[in-house]
Amino acid sequence: MGTVTLINNETGEKFEFNLIDCTRGPKAIDFSKLFETTGIFSYDPGYGSTAGCQSTISYINGKEGQLLYKGQPIQEIVEKYSFTDIAKLLITGEAPKNKEESEEFDLELRHRSFLHEGLINIFSAFPDNAHPMANLSSAVAALSTFHFDHKDMEHEGDYQTMARRIIAKITTLVAFSYRNSVGAPFIYPDISLSYVENFLYMLRAYPSGRLKYTRSGETTITPLEVQALDRIFSLHADHGQNASTTTVRNVASTGVHPYAAISAGINALWGPAHGGANEKVLDQLREIGDVKNVGKFIERVKDKSDPFRLMGFGHRVYKSYDPRAKAIKTLKDELHKKGITMDTKLSDIAEKLEEVALSDDYFKQRNLYPNVDFYSGIILSALKIPVQLFTPIFVIGRMPGWCAQVIEHMKNPHARITRPRQVYLGK
Ligand code: ACO
Repeated sequence: MGTVTLINNETGEKFEFNLIDCTRGPKAIDFSKLFETTGIFSYDPGYGSTAGCQSTISYINGKEGQLLYKGQPIQEIVEKYSFTDIAKLLITGEAPKNKEESEEFDLELRHRSFLHEGLINIFSAFPDNAHPMANLSSAVAALSTFHFDHKDMEHEGDYQTMARRIIAKITTLVAFSYRNSVGAPFIYPDISLSYVENFLYMLRAYPSGRLKYTRSGETTITPLEVQALDRIFSLHADHGQNASTTTVRNVASTGVHPYAAISAGINALWGPAHGGANEKVLDQLREIGDVKNVGKFIERVKDKSDPFRLMGFGHRVYKSYDPRAKAIKTLKDELHKKGITMDTKLSDIAEKLEEVALSDDYFKQRNLYPNVDFYSGIILSALKIPVQLFTPIFVIGRMPGWCAQVIEHMKNPHARITRPRQVYLGK
């Protein structure tokens, strides 16, 4: 462990601070006693240079475009494990060891996917056309009233039940939020279907529980669709201390019910600078309308008099290609080859945008690359997922990460309430 010396050039005073060794990535200066020892505090809007916690869940190397879940590269992990396996890995620290353990965990989630009938009533209070993200954060906050025992957890089993319950119920809540927003009757979970299949079923089925009335009676959920959505969920499962995860931890730091903290995280994710970007990317591609308009659009993005951003581009941490974006782009191409009908026009516009942006000095100088939200909408549209469900899909994917982070925070005896200071400039 090294130290750094801070010199106050006004007074000549010197202060020594310890350096914390991270297992990966740059060292951090332990500034927790900065104010106590120097009488000065740090100013870091957006917390770009500040770590608010220590964590063992995921690791990002922004320069190299690397993402690890529990020490394993994202590219390998998504090939090896299903989304529910990854959920288990994140919340327990261990992935299922074999097919039986994997199926057992998936089955447990299916059993837990039902909602209390009282909770379902909440949806009738929301107006038609309400955005599913608003319905969802309210419903997740309301879930805390039905499982109030998770407020004070002591044993590993308590944490696990809390996490498994919400990971299981979030698909039902998303499906119900959507169906409510279009005035369609709710479809209850079908326990015979796997986690991802069940979600698609609850979205798509008719009130009779049938998926599609065809002469041959075949279903409309294909294994390829399930695989694709599973992959999308997996690629979103955790991502360090991003805005929504930080919100979850900050709210949890006051000692609230974990579902109240997660509900706050859902609200944070909704914003277009964060998870809401996936919805905006599709709007932007549609607005561009044709590959020939890409150049003009990029010029508009670069025009600083018009504060307008290329959605799905840029990231606080990645200063090279986001590995999730790379994986999603590959998935898009694979699905297209395997026969999932893509909107090739939108896909071509997206690829042209990427090509033009990556060769443009504005983007090169600022290290702006496609992020996870850039290509995901094209795949989700091809899976016939309505655009207002793109961010709720992100919520499903991120739920294991939020749970793991909230558990990590709650188990930490040294965790403190989040309470930053301010640089006061008022009267
Ligand atoms: N389009 C155009 N310019 C951009 C973009 C973009 N998408 N992103 C950043 N820039 C520019 C900024 O204007 C700024 O330029 P300047 O130095 O000339 O002022 C420079 O790049 C640095 O940008 P910051 O705002 O300081 O970067 P920050 O780390 O604060 O923001 C963010 C990151 C919010 C993701 C930003 O890149 C952005 O708004 N992207 C578009 C929205 C988006 O895709 N969000 C999803 C992110 S991934 C996720 O959250 C799941």
